[in-house]
Amino acid sequence: MNIDQIKKEFPIFDNKVQNNDLVYLDSANSSQKPRIVIDRIYDFYSKEFSNVGRSVHYLAVAATNLYEQTRTSVQKYINASDKNEIVFTKGATEAINLVANTFGQKYLDEGDEVLITELEHHSNYVPWHFLRKSKKINIEFAEVNDQGEVTLEEIKKKITDRTKIICVTHLSNVTGAILPIKEIVNFAHSKGIPVLVDGCQGAPHLKLDMQDLDCDFYAISGHKMYGPTGIGVLYAKKKWLEDLPPYQGGGGMIREVKKKGISYGELPNKYEAGTMATAQVIAFNESIKFLEKIGIENIEKHEKELLDYAVELLGKNNSVNIIGNPKNKGGVISFTIEGIHPHDIATILDEDGVAIRAGHHCCQILHEKLGLPATARASFGVYNTIDDIDQLNKSINNCKKIFNLK
Ligand SMILES: Cc1ncc(COP(=O)(O)O)c(C=O)c1O
Repeated sequence: MNIDQIKKEFPIFDNKVQNNDLVYLDSANSSQKPRIVIDRIYDFYSKEFSNVGRSVHYLAVAATNLYEQTRTSVQKYINASDKNEIVFTKGATEAINLVANTFGQKYLDEGDEVLITELEHHSNYVPWHFLRKSKKINIEFAEVNDQGEVTLEEIKKKITDRTKIICVTHLSNVTGAILPIKEIVNFAHSKGIPVLVDGCQGAPHLKLDMQDLDCDFYAISGHKMYGPTGIGVLYAKKKWLEDLPPYQGGGGMIREVKKKGISYGELPNKYEAGTMATAQVIAFNESIKFLEKIGIENIEKHEKELLDYAVELLGKNNSVNIIGNPKNKGGVISFTIEGIHPHDIATILDEDGVAIRAGHHCCQILHEKLGLPATARASFGVYNTIDDIDQLNKSINNCKKIFNLK
């Protein structure tokens, strides 16, 4: 893999940030965009724009075909068995809200339990929390261990007769832990419990195969996959999309509307109400092509090399404390430095052009468990290099110097 060549495909790296070369270590938050994705949005609006799925004129039919081509690309990328199992949403957050809302409406009653984990992003907790009030359900938490993982054994321990759905992250955006999804799904299914996977951090970094994973729902975020903002995907098994009620009402999702009643459209239209993020969906196809051109296995290998190098280097750096040590870990390193607030770390690193994130990373439950209000986080993408990690370590050392730390 020629990273220098790949990096050239991202215009953001052509410019200096505060007179520095950009060292972008915030891809778990959102990835940078390759030129083909940016150009596709421009070209679509300049030469091909029309709304989709409505008019019969040339531009409308062509745009609808492009929109549907992305659906087919996503289907292939995640190896779903049917293209109608791919529902476009505005992000992973909306995908999870869709499931919480519709599954909640139909299948959750007072006293039922939703099992999540302490690793979950707020996007995979708050939508379920709403049901505590409206449906009087309970939320149970599988606990994170000292390594920053949630094990299958822990999940098994927390399942009860009232567990109606299990919702777990694929790859933690704080500790980097990769959860044993296939094993969790196998066990859950043996008890008749469906599984939703928050795949935000999985989809850009891990090879996905929905038929092999066998999960019921998988939420994807386009903007973390080198794609545009405003686009996400809910993968759901067809049986669920047929069975669950619609999420939002409006144009595009109906079959027939009468004063006395309404029938809903075929899949996946039933879940795509109103004008969708047409340009973003069409440009998202380019990010999938980009990922496929490099090959997800190559990306996984490259990011693992970066991770191993960074864990070793930062591990040797006095006063740097890496959060968690999961056996199976993706390209995310959260850390603290004794005596320096994470926001100060991020601000000082930024002066060298090193972009990291500081805060609770939308995981306050986990940070409360860790007894930390915030951590600093470096996360990797396909464009990162060993030099980026060296610069991170160098800037951490500058930061320590400012605070008189050894
Ligand atoms: C693990 C995880 N889940 C959910 C989300 C929310 O995704 P989106 O921005 O697509 O709504 C994020 C984004 O930070 C995330 O990292």
